Amino acid sequence: MRRVFTLLATALFVGGPQIGLAQENSPGFGGAEDVAFAQRLWDQLVEARLVGANAIGSQPYEGVEPHGVILTTLQSTLTTADREGVVIVKNNYIGENVSVQSVADNPRLNLDAITVMFRREAGYDPENRNWFWAKFNNDGTLSANPRGVALAGRVAKNPEGGCIACHVFAPGNDYVFLNDQFAVPEFFADAAEPPAGIKNFNPARLDPQPAEGALSPGLKVTYYSNIFNLVEEVREWAQAEPGTAGTPLLSLDYNVGSGLVLSSGRKDGVGAVIEGLINFPEAGVYTMAMQANDGVELTIGGVTILSDPTVHADRFTDLVTVQIDDAGWYALDLLYFEKRNTSTLELYWLTPGEEGGLNFVPPSAFARRSG
Ligand code: HEC
Repeated sequence: MRRVFTLLATALFVGGPQIGLAQENSPGFGGAEDVAFAQRLWDQLVEARLVGANAIGSQPYEGVEPHGVILTTLQSTLTTADREGVVIVKNNYIGENVSVQSVADNPRLNLDAITVMFRREAGYDPENRNWFWAKFNNDGTLSANPRGVALAGRVAKNPEGGCIACHVFAPGNDYVFLNDQFAVPEFFADAAEPPAGIKNFNPARLDPQPAEGALSPGLKVTYYSNIFNLVEEVREWAQAEPGTAGTPLLSLDYNVGSGLVLSSGRKDGVGAVIEGLINFPEAGVYTMAMQANDGVELTIGGVTILSDPTVHADRFTDLVTVQIDDAGWYALDLLYFEKRNTSTLELYWLTPGEEGGLNFVPPSAFARRSG
């Protein structure tokens, strides 16, 4: 299904206008903040030799519309004080006599545009895996659509040609065509029934349900600073120590490399007890999974549904299904720790009847009791 859409969307662009035409002037991109962010990003890319006159070379290959006749792609990470973000740079070559050889010989010649995806901080655009999109001209200025709106930011969801609108069809639901490094594991989205071996849980809804006015956005978090090796040790510390309250977590889509762990302000040796409520907006079967680094244990409605309690690099938990009999708020308890180096904490779901791959649970599904 997805593949067909990809071909269709691509076909619309063959011989057609350049990327970015006919986009709505949506608040999602082209604002002052987006433009400033893109300009900083360009400077960092120059510094990292991923673009510009001193850019490191990479093997050219024949591309597909809308990107260019010949393409080169570089993937790396950019580091700021807070976090490391993955960046993918695509050089798009267009011209009468452009060929793999001509680009290999002179990578500055016929360079029409540089399209960039940069994975931003948690909460930036959880609906679309937090990618920031930009299209630069070969001199580093931003491209604009015919309305003069700069192509920088959450560009764009309308089907007539936004980056997001087309990249949403990339396999693995990670918006990246070229590899599946950021993909959510394949699963049984189209199967009538989950295959044998998938665990199904049936957690209890909060009774009574909290009044809407009694809730604030985000999950409560308490930090414990120690070198933990197991999630169980975080639970033990939390029983003995008061811990430090952190800024509530509005979403669970943290992927920070060796940057700061959640809202702790620390880079290493962090345990976190995260508590609050999760809203299942309709009854039915939800598929859920987490990606974590290091250990994690998720309990919903008093039932532990996902657990990967040890020290490890980024990896996904098993996929599980959660049978929700009644829509509404359920208790959420999450234990997490990061020992050293990189940290990741992401919660994914696929809602009943939804097709395709898992997405981040949206911020609207998280809350905590006010006060
Ligand atoms: C009509 C579909 C379509 C649109 C619109 C589109 N892309 Fe792409 N993009 C692709 C395809 C297909 C590839 C893989 C091409 C290849 O390398 O052969 C790709 C590859 C990329 C890559 C390399 C990573 C990857 O996914 O493989 C980047 C970066 C990228 N596009 C950025 C952008 C940006 C930024 C925009 C908007 C300004 C954009 N794209 C608009 C289809 C699209």
